[in-house]
Amino acid sequence: MNKKLFIITFGCQMNEADSEYMARLFRRRGFSLADKLDEADAVIVNTCTVRQLAEDKAVSQIGRLKYWKKSHPEGKLFVTGCAAQRIGAKKIKKRFPYVDEITGARSIENFDRLLDSVYRKNKISGEEGKKEIPENTGPENIYRSPLTAYVTIMRGCSHRCSYCIVPSVRGPATFISREEIIKDAKEKLAAGARELVLLGQTVNSYRLSGFTFSNLLEEILVLPGLERLRFMSPHPLYFDRDFKRILKQNSRLARHIHLPVQSGSDRILKLMRRGYTHQQYLELLAELRAEVPDMSFTTDFIVGYPGETEEDFQETLRLVEEAGFTAAFCFKYSPRTDRPEMAADISEKIMESRLDILLKAVKKNSRVILRERIGKIEEVMFETPDFGRSSSNMAVRINSETAPGSIRKVEILSAERNTLHGKVIL
Ligand code: 5AD
Ligand code: SF4
Repeated sequence: MNKKLFIITFGCQMNEADSEYMARLFRRRGFSLADKLDEADAVIVNTCTVRQLAEDKAVSQIGRLKYWKKSHPEGKLFVTGCAAQRIGAKKIKKRFPYVDEITGARSIENFDRLLDSVYRKNKISGEEGKKEIPENTGPENIYRSPLTAYVTIMRGCSHRCSYCIVPSVRGPATFISREEIIKDAKEKLAAGARELVLLGQTVNSYRLSGFTFSNLLEEILVLPGLERLRFMSPHPLYFDRDFKRILKQNSRLARHIHLPVQSGSDRILKLMRRGYTHQQYLELLAELRAEVPDMSFTTDFIVGYPGETEEDFQETLRLVEEAGFTAAFCFKYSPRTDRPEMAADISEKIMESRLDILLKAVKKNSRVILRERIGKIEEVMFETPDFGRSSSNMAVRINSETAPGSIRKVEILSAERNTLHGKVIL
């Protein structure tokens, strides 16, 4: 009998990669992915807690799964991820007694063993146990197009940005060994990926016995089958000279970097403990653009950090005007600790209004950035016959059809909202 697994993932790419990893462990035990909850023999809710709203959504999802559990009494419900870590197994069990297993984000390495204990019966009978399924069934690839695969290179974060709960739920930074990363990358390329995305909370801080992020990029960039390499999310403090050289020399390194800035106010950046100023951030963009003029940047902003004044917010708007972002994710500050000085002290009304103004400013500037691509040639990896992503991570549509999986040169003819339109020239 073929058993089915249904996964519900909240949050960031790290969580998506963890979900794929768990799916793979299930697959080795004879499970395949369910299209519908109702078909599932096992359900994973992989939770996020970066903002209160994210946690609330995950928690109410667990609440709704009560009905699934009622109609599938034999089914197993797993709760994993950052909210599971923050809230703790005891409290979750108390509130939702029908949850079978709880594994926090820090304990993902134990998930294989956990499954061994949960599905022991199968293993002993040997009917559909782990041993019957060959190990090399290939990686799961759930969240991106089949051309793109995630490769986790580090876990946790050793920064102490004042607003952020990640270091306390995921723990301090730990780096995966060079050998394991290369093995993972090779496997995913052999299974058909053409684009890899290296993942970590401060991905470019990777360093293990003197082997740096830049060294790692150079090793991965020469792997057979790799067409494009991305990484996320880097921290502005960790780009070294080697990185700039590699960026310039190797166009397989994507012409896009998602580089969270959080605020444009030096005062707020300092309170956030980000380690750079408005000016230093802009200088970094300028240095990277000096190597590759067509570089595209996206970012994250938080509005309404405790004590953020109108002047602070104006500095953020000024940064938007100066930086030339292709897009930005903008969030309202969400308190993640009980420390009184970290409580939200900006009214919801002002927070909403700043968010709205910021989103409009981002949109206005990104329109200009997209229009600047008109007349230029973009290298596009096609996900469907008429749609793909450029190396600069812009959505590109064409009027003709080309083979999904192919990489073609596309001349950009127009830009509409978030999408470029063009024609294949090569
Ligand atoms: N409140 C609002 N946004 C936050 N982020 C992280 N912590 C918080 C918080 N407490 C945002 C940051 C980060 C992104 C992943 O989430 O912008 O870059
Ligand atoms: Fe959080 Fe990123 Fe700061 Fe680490 S670097 S504490 S993950 S915002």
